[in-house]
Amino acid sequence: MRSTRRSLAARLTAAGAGLVLMLTATACSAGDDDTDAATVEVFTWWAEGGEKAGLDALVSRFTADCPGQQFTDGVVAGGAGINAKQVLTARLAQGDPPDTFQVHAGAELTDYIDAGQVQDLTAEYDAWGLRQALPEGLVDDLTVNGKIYSVPANVHRANVVWINPQVLSNAGIHTTPKTITALLRDMEKLRKSGIESPLALGRDWTQLMLLEAVLISKLGAERFSGLFTGETSWSSSAVSAGIRDFGKLMSYSNADRDAMDWPDAERLLIDGKAGYQLMGDWEAADLEAKGFKAYDWFTFPGNGEVFQWLADSFVLAGGAPNPEGTKCWLKTVASAEGQGAFNAAKGSVPARTDAATPAGTVFSSYQQSAMEDWKTATPVPSCAHGSACSQAWQNAVNSALSAYSTSQQSTTTQPSTASPQSITALHKALIAAANQFIKQEQE
Ligand code: GAL
Repeated sequence: MRSTRRSLAARLTAAGAGLVLMLTATACSAGDDDTDAATVEVFTWWAEGGEKAGLDALVSRFTADCPGQQFTDGVVAGGAGINAKQVLTARLAQGDPPDTFQVHAGAELTDYIDAGQVQDLTAEYDAWGLRQALPEGLVDDLTVNGKIYSVPANVHRANVVWINPQVLSNAGIHTTPKTITALLRDMEKLRKSGIESPLALGRDWTQLMLLEAVLISKLGAERFSGLFTGETSWSSSAVSAGIRDFGKLMSYSNADRDAMDWPDAERLLIDGKAGYQLMGDWEAADLEAKGFKAYDWFTFPGNGEVFQWLADSFVLAGGAPNPEGTKCWLKTVASAEGQGAFNAAKGSVPARTDAATPAGTVFSSYQQSAMEDWKTATPVPSCAHGSACSQAWQNAVNSALSAYSTSQQSTTTQPSTASPQSITALHKALIAAANQFIKQEQE
């Protein structure tokens, strides 16, 4: 069996080569007593709150299901994997893969498959009966050329607005806005009531989520999905109108957004400094984990019955140091019990259709409604969370949004309308990104 020493050394490389050598030597002698412990390094971005609670629940199942295997936490904090993906890219390039890593189903996974960085799990799918246990559409998103490369843990919904009902009620807002215009009107009311930044917002990728929700409203499900396949033009007047509305919404957000991760923005909501936050439905579990139960939510105005989905999955990395232990991790992730425990804590919908929560626990009322919606609503993918677009495309869009957001800071901390020039520049950058990446995908 594999000892713990390689993994310890790998995790400590950042501390400097000298320190690594010193600690590796220590680990070698400690390893003499520990030769039976094989480790599985699991690389995620689930570092705190509801996300960590989900990971912890999975680790407990893994420890019970896989005797002789030990979990090693390869976490790199930062919402949506904004930092983790960079670290992972560097590690894969250096030939230092973790055993398994978190990856979104869809286009993002295809990047790793094309680069040969993940191993074929088709035989495991058949041995574990996963083709029957998972929805067919999801398995399709994990498959390339007839081979399946990853095990999905869950499905999340992206297009949800979380609210602090007390803050809204203090401003006399008691109804759910059905249109973006009505939402903007309510934000103005909030601002007049003394809430300077009604919309809690974070950095680039959270802004992309907001833009995507606006575009779903403007284009509808089918045309929105077509933006990422080349079937819908990014140059249309509907997209321009969406970007203008996005600019108006941004003008109601906190000026320090570019320095904030999503939990920082969520804190503004919890503390009553904002009334709204557009965020994926991991927010429900996170708010609960942070003791804030007095929240409510609605689907982004105009998104109707559209469920913007994303799915977290785990792979067997190419060159994984401990493939057998990793397969046991993946089997736990795939199991009905593993998915029940994980999703109850993480706030997501289990990818399996037969997952049950651990005895004595139930899915939250939000989750139960999301599970119903997942069965009936129209699914569209997410670029911010890798189901719709490749990582390179996502990076290009995030850069364009950062540039736009920064340009809005220069005049005043609370611009109420976006400048037409910066809106045009953002639109041009989005068109350029689409032209570049759709062309690449079609080649
Ligand atoms: C998503 C991920 C979710 C959640 C979120 C915020 O990309 O799929 O599970 O972790 O990021 O970090």
